[in-house]
Amino acid sequence: MAFFRSLAAAESVPTLAGDGVTLRTPQMADFPAWSALRDQSRGFLQPWEPTWPPDDTSRLAFRKRLKRYVRELESDQAYPFFVFGRDGALLGGVTVSQIRRGVSQTCSLGYWMGERHAGRGHMTAAVKALAPFVFDTLKLRRVEAACLPHNFASIRLLEKSGFKREGYAREYLCIDGRWQDHLLYALLRGDVVG
Ligand SMILES: CC(C)(COP(=O)(O)OP(=O)(O)OC[C@H]1O[C@@H](n2cnc3c(N)ncnc32)[C@H](O)[C@@H]1OP(=O)(O)O)[C@@H](O)C(=O)NCCC(=O)NCCS
Repeated sequence: MAFFRSLAAAESVPTLAGDGVTLRTPQMADFPAWSALRDQSRGFLQPWEPTWPPDDTSRLAFRKRLKRYVRELESDQAYPFFVFGRDGALLGGVTVSQIRRGVSQTCSLGYWMGERHAGRGHMTAAVKALAPFVFDTLKLRRVEAACLPHNFASIRLLEKSGFKREGYAREYLCIDGRWQDHLLYALLRGDVVG
C-alpha cells in the first residue's frame, strides 16, 4: 500500500523541459546509468560533495535513496530530478531541498553533472527549466545555493543563472570530509535570466 502511495507521489511531479535537457523524478530503472555515471565521475565530484558512504553507488543504496526521495516528496521537503540529454542519456542531477514554508517560502538548490557532460551548458539549461517549477508550481519565493569559494564552475553557473551573492558562511557544510566555508547565493523570481 505504502509503495503505491509512493509511486503516486513521484508520478505527480511534472517532467520539465529545457534547452536540450529534460528533468524528471529518479526511478529504479535509472540505477544502471546513475551508478555508472557516478562511479566514472567519482574523482570529479568528490571534492565538492559530502563524503560518499562506501556502498553509495550500490543497488541497495539507490533503492534506499529512492525511498527517501519519495518520503521527502510526499512531505513537500524536497524535489529531486535527474537531468537527461536529447538522446535520453543521464547527464546529472539537480535537487530542490530543505523547503521551508510559512514566512520563509525558501528552498536550497543542489546539483551535479557527470564529468564527461560538464561544461556544455547542460546545468545552466536545467536550472533555467527548474525556475518556473520552483516559483510558479511550488510557489516558493527564494532559491538558496551555497558553494565553495574555489568552485569556479559552480560560481559561474550560479551567476549566469541570475543568482546574487549574499554572503559568506564560515564552516557552513561538511564537504569531502571537512567543514568548509561557503559563498551564499540566492535567486528571487525577478533575478531569473531570460
Ligand atoms: C558545477 C556543475 C554542476 C556545473 O555543471 P555544468 O553543466 O558543467 O554547467 P554549465 O556548463 O551550464 O556552466 C558552467 C560554467 O562554468 C564555467 N567553468 C567551468 N569550469 C570553470 C573554471 N574552472 N573556472 C571558471 N569557469 C569555469 C563553464 O565554462 C561554464 O560557463 P560558460 O557557459 O560561461 O562557459 C559541474 O561542473 C559539476 O558537477 N561540478 C562538480 C560538482 C559540483 O561542483 N557540484 C556543485 C557543488 S556547489
